[in-house]
Amino acid sequence: MNVIGKPLTRVDGHTKVTGKARYAADFNQPGQVYAVIVSATVGLGRVTAIEGVEAERMPGVVALITHRNAPKLAYLPHKAGIDPAVGERFHVLQDDSVRFYGQPVAVVVADSIDNAERAAAALRITYDARQPIVDHADQQVARIVPGTGTADRSRGDADAAVAEAAIKVDENYDIARENHNPMEPHATVATWDGDRLTLWSKSQYLVNEQAEIAAVFGLPVENVEVICPFIGGAFGTSLRTWPHVTLAALAARHVRRPVKLVLTRKQMFFTTGHRPRSLQRVALGANPDGKLTGVVHEGTGETSRYEQFTEALTAVTEYLYSCPNVRTQYRLAQLDTGTPNHMRGPGEASGIFALESAMDELSYKLRIDPIELRRRNEPQIDEAENKPFSSRSLIQCYELGAERFGWARRTPEPRSMRDGRLLIGMGTATATYPAFHAPSSARVRLLADGTAEVEAAASDMGPGTYTSMTQVAAEYLGLQPQQVRFKLGTTDYPPTPSHGGSWTMASVGSAIRAACLEAQSQAAKTAIADQNSPVFGISMEDLEWTEGRLRRRGDTAPGLSYQDILAKAGNPIEADGSAQRDPEIAEKYSMHSFGAVFAEVSVDPDVGTIRVRRLVGAYGIGRVVNPLLARSQCTGGMIGGFGMALMERTVLDARDGRPVNAHMADYLMPVNLDTPKLEALFVDEVDPHVNPLGVKGLGEIALVGTAPAIANAVFHATGKRVRTLPIKIEDVL
Ligand code: MOS
Repeated sequence: MNVIGKPLTRVDGHTKVTGKARYAADFNQPGQVYAVIVSATVGLGRVTAIEGVEAERMPGVVALITHRNAPKLAYLPHKAGIDPAVGERFHVLQDDSVRFYGQPVAVVVADSIDNAERAAAALRITYDARQPIVDHADQQVARIVPGTGTADRSRGDADAAVAEAAIKVDENYDIARENHNPMEPHATVATWDGDRLTLWSKSQYLVNEQAEIAAVFGLPVENVEVICPFIGGAFGTSLRTWPHVTLAALAARHVRRPVKLVLTRKQMFFTTGHRPRSLQRVALGANPDGKLTGVVHEGTGETSRYEQFTEALTAVTEYLYSCPNVRTQYRLAQLDTGTPNHMRGPGEASGIFALESAMDELSYKLRIDPIELRRRNEPQIDEAENKPFSSRSLIQCYELGAERFGWARRTPEPRSMRDGRLLIGMGTATATYPAFHAPSSARVRLLADGTAEVEAAASDMGPGTYTSMTQVAAEYLGLQPQQVRFKLGTTDYPPTPSHGGSWTMASVGSAIRAACLEAQSQAAKTAIADQNSPVFGISMEDLEWTEGRLRRRGDTAPGLSYQDILAKAGNPIEADGSAQRDPEIAEKYSMHSFGAVFAEVSVDPDVGTIRVRRLVGAYGIGRVVNPLLARSQCTGGMIGGFGMALMERTVLDARDGRPVNAHMADYLMPVNLDTPKLEALFVDEVDPHVNPLGVKGLGEIALVGTAPAIANAVFHATGKRVRTLPIKIEDVL
């Protein structure tokens, strides 16, 4: 490999830091007006009156759209992989019902955002309000249902094994609801040309937004174009197409002008998904030697009344450790809130907090080092699926991480380490996430000047997709990265799966590789067919490409560059490529990334303030395409896990479901001053099975494991086991 594996700096870095990168809200169209959403201020019920005459007469107001005058939309069935399998998406402004606090109940369109906001504030809306159910811990009232698609799994008799175990841990865990809170707000600019719609819209899944909006408006898919060249962070919130996109398009059609709609920070807590609160129970049984004999993991997530959002809350427990008796159970509480959505490390991050907290607790009961406990329960195969792992480097991750972290300096007793008057704690936990691979396509164009253009309808929410895909194309074409222009961010390009689930590198990367190989093959055919070419008439098998030059196998001549071949051919060479996982391989192997996270915290014994001092994450993620991007990706995820452990919590008012801290002052997240020394390390791991690139993905695993590592460090520092996230000062006093 010449280019893959190199620490290339971001190819779009200059564009970004010079302010030239355009995000959804940066686009403007001639004659554009501005839409502002009016959000419901009750949590359940219906709208009884909207007094808007005054508002409509205010300066600059172009239109007031409510359920009374909004067109009835087609809402044709359309389910992408990202939509819940059960239920029907929220239909916006189609009737007078209010299903959750903050639901859009009106849209004001005006000639400026200020005028639209002023008029929106002047609307007088009355409701017939009922008491919503928003707290699923109150199981008296929350309706608990099985989560579809996440069947309860069981092997052996886990409950009996735990009951009979010599050593056991049986505890409950509670993780707060969180909101994604990327820097860039959701935004959509919509413009119609007849029955053709163009959307400049923040999206992690362009082709889905295209298909979704086409279905909502009853349009042919090809009539909708979605454009999104840059994303200022997303963490999953832009995987689905939320009601504001529909509203922007609806408003633009209503006023017959281009419309820009930007959600406020507050509105980002209403209708764009959230990590659901989870309640879990983990019970572990073990022999005195540390071998697990039984594992029970039960969890409840949250969903809305109209859809079933499910995530892999208990899935990791099935394969992470060796144990003959394992039972998992997943349930959903149906609440009067908007539908949750995947948030970085979805499911796994919450589930592993419970499991890895319990494992740590078990290690103290057994008086076995936490790493040694994992070693003693390391499985030979995936015992849930009864198949080998395509690769698994968990123990190597622990070894590499422990070495760098200085785990050997840790004294096992809680409260045994100090720095002056501060208590010091060291904790560790496992991270894991599936190595997915979804069907994707891409296009490569070899140009007469010897450069290449590569296109895919992908997104880049920050991991560096522009750069990593440039590297893949350069690698397989044998070009320098600066000779490749990778373009993404429009539905005009070949379709890709969602930019999520840690599968972009595997999926889009493999498609680009296939397109490059196809383009190369076409170039070779062109050269073979050319009577004046030195390779005229030679069979393909006797030719080889090295560093972008075609020559007879073993020949020492300089060979033909793409430029040489194309100069004669006249036309550029264009090739489409697609890739998906070989179903036979998928059948044969269990494919997951693994990692080990280490945390050092200090706790003030008098006032309980917790500081994270260091985080070290060691990951086995197959091939690292770009170590600079990978490190950045992982440290970012670790900061997300830090937020989960100590800061992030969306608080709902039990009376009406209002998120009371729907702003950046009260929704706490780590800032630079909080952020400790971060290190991300990668074990050398070769996985020949996952995909042709050998990459397992690392966007999601980067968040998984950090929260339990921190909670375990807090226990080590204080002797207080906190099973509720985020950990608060009062929990350790
Ligand atoms: Mo990731 S939660 O699929 O953006």
